[in-house]
Amino acid sequence: MFEALEPLSPDPILGLMAAFREDARAQKIDLGVGVYRDEAGDTPIMKCVGEAEQRRFASETTKSYIGPPGTPEFNDVARALMFGAGHAVLRDKRVAGVQTPGGCGALRVGAELIKRARPATTIWVSSPTWANHVPLLGNAGLAIQEYAYYAKASHSLDADGMLAALAEVPAGDVVLLHGCCHNPSGVDLKAEHWHAVARLANERGFTPFIDLAYQGLGDGIEEDAAGVRILGEACPELIVASSYSKNFGLYRERVGALQIVSPSTQQTAIVQSQLGSVVRGIYSMPPAHGAAIVEIVMNDEALRASWVDELNGMRERINGLRDLLAERLGAATGQDFGFIREQRGMFSFLGISPAQVQRLKDEFGIYMVDSSRINVAGVNGANVDYFVDAMRQVLV
Ligand code: LMR
Repeated sequence: MFEALEPLSPDPILGLMAAFREDARAQKIDLGVGVYRDEAGDTPIMKCVGEAEQRRFASETTKSYIGPPGTPEFNDVARALMFGAGHAVLRDKRVAGVQTPGGCGALRVGAELIKRARPATTIWVSSPTWANHVPLLGNAGLAIQEYAYYAKASHSLDADGMLAALAEVPAGDVVLLHGCCHNPSGVDLKAEHWHAVARLANERGFTPFIDLAYQGLGDGIEEDAAGVRILGEACPELIVASSYSKNFGLYRERVGALQIVSPSTQQTAIVQSQLGSVVRGIYSMPPAHGAAIVEIVMNDEALRASWVDELNGMRERINGLRDLLAERLGAATGQDFGFIREQRGMFSFLGISPAQVQRLKDEFGIYMVDSSRINVAGVNGANVDYFVDAMRQVLV
C-alpha cells in the first residue's frame, strides 16, 4: 500500500534543526526554529516551571484520564490570561474552551470545528504567514486564501492593502490574524488596526481567528493580548488559539488552548459540547503534565511573580538584541536594518535572497529559513561579530 507514496523533502523549519545538528563547524549559528535561547545559546527550563514540576511530582496521585476538554482549572487560567480579569466575555460567560496539545492542536481543533459548522468556509491568512498554518488548517478540508500584510520594500505593515483585502472577504469566511509577534515577519498590528479589523468583521460578517503563540514576548503579557481583547469586545464571535510553548518554555510538553467567544451563553454551551466531540474524534484528550504546570504556576502568587519576571527578562533580551542587530548590521553593511528594532517577537526577515541565505549556510554555517527569517534569540555576545561579518560578506 505505502509504496504508492512519494518521499517528501524535510519540513522548511524543522528540517533546519537536523541540518544544524549535523554541521560539525564550531562557529555555526542556529537562527532557524523559533525556540528562545539565552545568552549562552541554551533553552533552559524556566525556574518557575522546574519548581512547579517538583510540586506536581510530590502531589500527583493518579494518571487517570482528564477528559477531552482538559482540566477546568487550566481552562480558567487560560481564559483569564487571554482576556484579562473583568473582560465582558468572561463576565457574560461567553467563552467556550479546551486545553489542546500545543498551539498547533488548538489551530487544528478550531479548523475542524469550522469545517463542521460551515464546510464551505475559506480561511484567509496573512501574506506571508507561518508555514505550518496552511497544513494545520487546510488539512481539515478548508480552503485557504491570502490577504496582503507585509510590505517587503518598507519591511512594515501594508495596512492599506490588508484593510482593502479584508473589505472583500465574503460573509461566513474566517480571517486568521497573529495576535502579536507575527511569524515570520515580526510586524504587528497596532490598536487602530485591530479596531479597523473589528469594524470590517462586523460589516462583512467574517469571523476573526487569532493565533496568539507568543504572548509576553512582544510588548508585555497584557499588551500582547490587546488585539484579542479588542475583538472580544467588538465582535459577536471570535476564535483564539494560544500556545504555552514559548512563554513557559514548555515546547515539548505540548500545551495550548482553544477559546471561542459566542454571542450568547446558550451558543457557548453548544460550542463547548461540539469542541469536546471534535477532540474525542481526533486525539480523544490532551496530555496532562504541561497544562498542570501552567495551572500550578498561575495559581501560586510567588511562582506567578517569578514567571512574569523570567518572561520579562526573555522579552527584554530579545528587544535588546533587536537594537544591537539594527545598529551592528547597519554599520557593517551600510544598509538600513532599523526595521529590526521596530519589529517584535522572535522573528524578522533579513530581506536577503535565497541564494544569500544558502551562502550563509554553506560558507559560514549560519542557519535560517529560506525566506531569510531569523530567530533573533539565536544571536548572542559570542556569535554576533561572526554573524555581522558574514552578513557583510554576502551583502557587500
Ligand atoms: C517556528 O516558527 O519556528 C516555530 O513556531 C516552531 C515550528 O513548529 O515551526
